[in-house]
Amino acid sequence: MIRIDSVTKRYPDGTVAVDRLSLEIPDRSITVLVGPSGCGKTTTLRMINRMVEPSEGTILIDGVDSRQQPVNTLRRSMGYVIQNAGLFQHRTILDNIATVPRMLGWGKEKSRARARELMERVGLDGTLAKRYPYQLSGGQQQRVGVARALAADPPVLLMDEPFSAVDPVVRKGLQDELLRIQDELGKTIVFVTHDIDEAVKLGTTVAVLRTGGKLAQFAPPAELLSRPADDFVEDFLGADRGIRRLSFFPAAGLELLTTPVVAVDATAERIAEAGAADTPYLLVTDADGRPLGWSEPRDLTAGAITADRLLPYGRPFVAGTDSLRSALDCAVLSPTGWAVAVDASGRATGVVSQQVIAEAIRGAHARIGADAARDADTEPDDGKARKVAP
Ligand SMILES: Nc1ncnc2c1ncn2[C@@H]1O[C@H](COP(=O)(O)OP(=O)(O)O)[C@@H](O)[C@H]1O
Ligand SMILES: [Mg+2]
Repeated sequence: MIRIDSVTKRYPDGTVAVDRLSLEIPDRSITVLVGPSGCGKTTTLRMINRMVEPSEGTILIDGVDSRQQPVNTLRRSMGYVIQNAGLFQHRTILDNIATVPRMLGWGKEKSRARARELMERVGLDGTLAKRYPYQLSGGQQQRVGVARALAADPPVLLMDEPFSAVDPVVRKGLQDELLRIQDELGKTIVFVTHDIDEAVKLGTTVAVLRTGGKLAQFAPPAELLSRPADDFVEDFLGADRGIRRLSFFPAAGLELLTTPVVAVDATAERIAEAGAADTPYLLVTDADGRPLGWSEPRDLTAGAITADRLLPYGRPFVAGTDSLRSALDCAVLSPTGWAVAVDASGRATGVVSQQVIAEAIRGAHARIGADAARDADTEPDDGKARKVAP
């Protein structure tokens, strides 16, 4: 565990970049430092590997004052990734990634073998090994930066706005990749960003900093979204935090209706039964159970159902793994106001109305409220809030 204990950084010109910051950064999880530009994120990160020395306070790594370790040993235990990757332009991709192993005296072949292994791990095609950084896209370069930081298998990864310079689509890919790698490797990651959406997506715990290097709130993302500590945090989270918070509520508990779901080859009897269910529309599926579209019951005649006469069903949600946010989104985008639930293979498992989703949302909020009341006189949240697929 990394423990930042009442640390202040005053630069020689008098700027207080970080002001009595205390944070406990747990092992094997992603701790995000987020806040507006100039609030002291980079300074904090650099104090962890002593690229910047604190003016006051201590940083403990597994209980030992970081000043008691030789700075080289300390830095070798911490991979460092920056924006624009910071690659050596005159070295090939493979040699960039092999930099630290080479420095550690691993030998050329072993270092390169390790570099190849890491290229695969971060999703880089092996054919890029002999290229130079300028021959790669921004997103690819960023992957090289991550691979290089992981090369000597350090327990800690420090990442300073690593994905801020790439476009949103590439960025999403890099974020997903980081979460996947983290699932496999279980590093202790300290991740700096100014983007609250990135913080909420990646963080197990999120530290919101305000200008002047003061900690505004330190909490798991779900808790930030439901209980911002003050107006600054609430403002920083943005106007749609209510909707975003729904990403943390699973859709699994939604009660799905199956009666209004009919196959394209349904009998007249089955259609009549479905029509008797008190819903304005029926969902028609193909013979295999995959959704085709919506129809009013009276427009369906057994043996004569054609897909081109149906209303589009929009984008379904996966009932077992998606969140209430996905379910609500499906209902909002559906021409009937009903959302279609499917299983992992894309077969319809039922339909659910906006109204039922709204009731589930109210139920989830009520549970959070009750938890908050209970937590108020006990310990703060332990970070176990589970993220569901957004
Ligand atoms: N070497 C330095 N000398 C003086 N002031 C600095 C130095 N580095 C950063 N600062 C100041 O410290 C504050 C925090 O900077 P920084 O940690 O880079 O913020 P962030 O990464 O959150 O944008 C800013 O006001 C910045 O101008
Ligand atoms: Mg910075």
